[in-house]
Amino acid sequence: MLIDRLGRKIEYLRISVTDRCNFRCIYCQSRESFKFLPHSEILTYEEIEEIVRVACELGVKRVRITGGEPLVRKDIEVLIERLSKIPGIEDLSLTTNGYFLLEKAEILKRAGLKRLNISLDTLNPEKFIKITGGFDFHKVWLGILKAFELGFEPLKLNMVVIRGFNDDEILSLAKLTLEYPWEVRFIEFMPIGKNDLWRDELVIPVKEIKDLLETYFPLEEVASFGGGPAKVFKWKGAKGRIGFISPVSEHFCSRCNRLRITPDGRLRPCLFSDKEINLKEYLRNKNRDLREAFYLAMSLKPEKRELKNTKREMRAIGG
Ligand code: 5AD
Ligand code: SF4
Repeated sequence: MLIDRLGRKIEYLRISVTDRCNFRCIYCQSRESFKFLPHSEILTYEEIEEIVRVACELGVKRVRITGGEPLVRKDIEVLIERLSKIPGIEDLSLTTNGYFLLEKAEILKRAGLKRLNISLDTLNPEKFIKITGGFDFHKVWLGILKAFELGFEPLKLNMVVIRGFNDDEILSLAKLTLEYPWEVRFIEFMPIGKNDLWRDELVIPVKEIKDLLETYFPLEEVASFGGGPAKVFKWKGAKGRIGFISPVSEHFCSRCNRLRITPDGRLRPCLFSDKEINLKEYLRNKNRDLREAFYLAMSLKPEKRELKNTKREMRAIGG
């Protein structure tokens, strides 16, 4: 079992399988040179499988594949299929920008993927181009509908809210829940990596977002799935739910149930802390036991997050 000195039990592992991404989202990237990890540094599928197998022996039940954009990694469905067969995995999900869902959703479903989170920061095609660095909103929207038709459930849409940029669309995104049984989640803009856009004033605290939505219609709290950081509500009579994630205005560190793995095989106890354990030293040395790395991570897990820009970019940590 993975339980730390503060009694936090780890049941959830987020694995970033690549730091590469076709999109260049303004809130995720630094405008500096765009350097990717060399392929030789990236964990192989065999290595990821071994890590997950050990994590599951230690009590991890839920695994999420992230990136970068996980669907740009070659044959990602092969990894999904292998992970879905590991004993102890109860939930296998993936976070994507949605661009390749039209092509890939069906293969992912067949490989055993249960759930999808899709980033969607605007419904306006022109703004979509600006946020993502030139991509087509319609292709993503059709991908979302395709995933929905295929029965990925619950389907979650994530909106990173930036003041003065896409906050005028909070209500329109929330209103998707009137029509679709999706969970639309609002996420506070976080200072991760060398992101030179981030400023305090650009963060809209979720309290403000919730107040705005309540002027439209009162929200009722509902139970959240899997004890994650989101607080979840719904409008009475709506088909879907509305979630709020407040890493900046109100940390949820005392409820933190997760560890992260970076594409280059570092076990990261906290999103906001640059302390990492190099799993490759364990994987490539027969005398070392991978379980020790997990125990070490538990002892390194900070009590609460420190809000400062991390050395790693979000895409190299796992969004
Ligand atoms: N603040 C908040 N969320 C972020 N993401 C990436 N960068 C940030 C940031 N600075 C999250 C978004 C996106 C996912 C890939 O990572 O939710 O949808
Ligand atoms: Fe890619 Fe996600 Fe970063 Fe956007 S937020 S650039 S989709 S990794």
